[in-house]
Amino acid sequence: MSSVVVVGTQWGDEGKGKVVDLLTRYADFVVRFQGGNNAGHTLVVEGKKFIFHIIPSGILYEDKMCMIGNGVIIDPGVLIKEMAQLQAQGLTITPDRLMISEAAHLIMPYHASLDQAKENALSDGDKIGTTGRGIGPCYMDKVGRVGIKAGDLRDESLFRDKLKAALDEKNFLLTKKYNAAPVEFEAVYRQFQEFAEKLIPFYGNISVELDAARKKDQNILFEGAQGTHLDIDHGTYPFVTSSNTIAGNACTGSGFGPAYIDAVVGIMKAYTTRVGSGPFPTELFDTVGNELQEKGHEFGATTGRRRRCGWLDGVVGADATRLNGVTGLAITKLDVLSGQSELKIATSYELNGKSYAAMPSNVREAGAVTPVYESLEGWKEEIDHIRDYDDLPLKAKEYIKRVEEVSGAPANIISVGPDREETLLLKNPFEK
Ligand code: IMP
Repeated sequence: MSSVVVVGTQWGDEGKGKVVDLLTRYADFVVRFQGGNNAGHTLVVEGKKFIFHIIPSGILYEDKMCMIGNGVIIDPGVLIKEMAQLQAQGLTITPDRLMISEAAHLIMPYHASLDQAKENALSDGDKIGTTGRGIGPCYMDKVGRVGIKAGDLRDESLFRDKLKAALDEKNFLLTKKYNAAPVEFEAVYRQFQEFAEKLIPFYGNISVELDAARKKDQNILFEGAQGTHLDIDHGTYPFVTSSNTIAGNACTGSGFGPAYIDAVVGIMKAYTTRVGSGPFPTELFDTVGNELQEKGHEFGATTGRRRRCGWLDGVVGADATRLNGVTGLAITKLDVLSGQSELKIATSYELNGKSYAAMPSNVREAGAVTPVYESLEGWKEEIDHIRDYDDLPLKAKEYIKRVEEVSGAPANIISVGPDREETLLLKNPFEK
């Protein structure tokens, strides 16, 4: 039995969806533990396109149990729509295939309104560039002890009281501070009664279920969303998301003991991208950046925004290995680098004569550092047809080796194209 956590090592969009899909084959349980519908990925299976925002893509496999942990925040309308869409595409979504933690908090309509109103009120330089899905305000309420939990939908009077109390405050903020439309009690109350009917059958105690699975020697895959440098504690704060994205939260966000985790897979794109604002030391503003953006189809999965692109950042990689306890890397989109004559990897930063081996925690310093690059020779040939590591061009192997060295973790998976088959699985993290 093994428990494996998959996390992004950069700023999200590292290609976790594809690696999770690959590793799901070996798992009995797939668990989301943080974030909400700010995440999103698309999988194409036998020509059919499936879009996921909250439900683990493991639902594509008939024999997997998918779980939405207590650390996730759920927009019930979005989840129900996602369920309906996947069902319309022929998938079975029943309580014996999907379980939702009662302790997960709900994204309420006022959370999205506040998210957007707050962003609009910020000056350009201060905007976070959130996905506008209500993520920050929902986690604020959770930590502020005024959030509404999925389980509250079971108790009509508790839900009514909490919603009333919340709207008192939120509508004051929306109308008086942000000059935005208020949220009406009756409409939300009625809508959430309908949501309750659809969601309650899926409720369960995920911590208990996962413990039972562990004792039965079953394999568990924890699927992280976003990326290490978007972590609320360890990321480029305040240009981060509002949850802990690092591997430790797989435990907190699902109720699973840390000693039971066997491996942590860090997904690392062969270059770097970021959506939204915030420090990005290796960002490129030249033709190479544009080439990576175009060849890598770098548009945000949830918002469709153009992603900022840059060289691979070894400082970001080393930070991620340390913060997550990465035991193996999955290097994705290596094929996008084919044809570049020169490749660069940042190995440290400099600012005001001082050298940095880790991302400075002061956001202004993080935004002002200059990366110190080393240069490697690129390879010309396309590599998407390659299925054996030995067949990779020598320069691609040298690049991978250097990525392993600067990040401090071995490359166990290498992705050379978007399809399921375009993957080199050098070491399966589920095998000890
Ligand atoms: P929020 O999570 O919507 O509050 O957005 C906060 C920051 O995280 C913004 O810069 C978003 O672009 C970024 N972000 C949130 N979710 C994702 C994701 O799944 N991939 C990449 N960036 C994300």
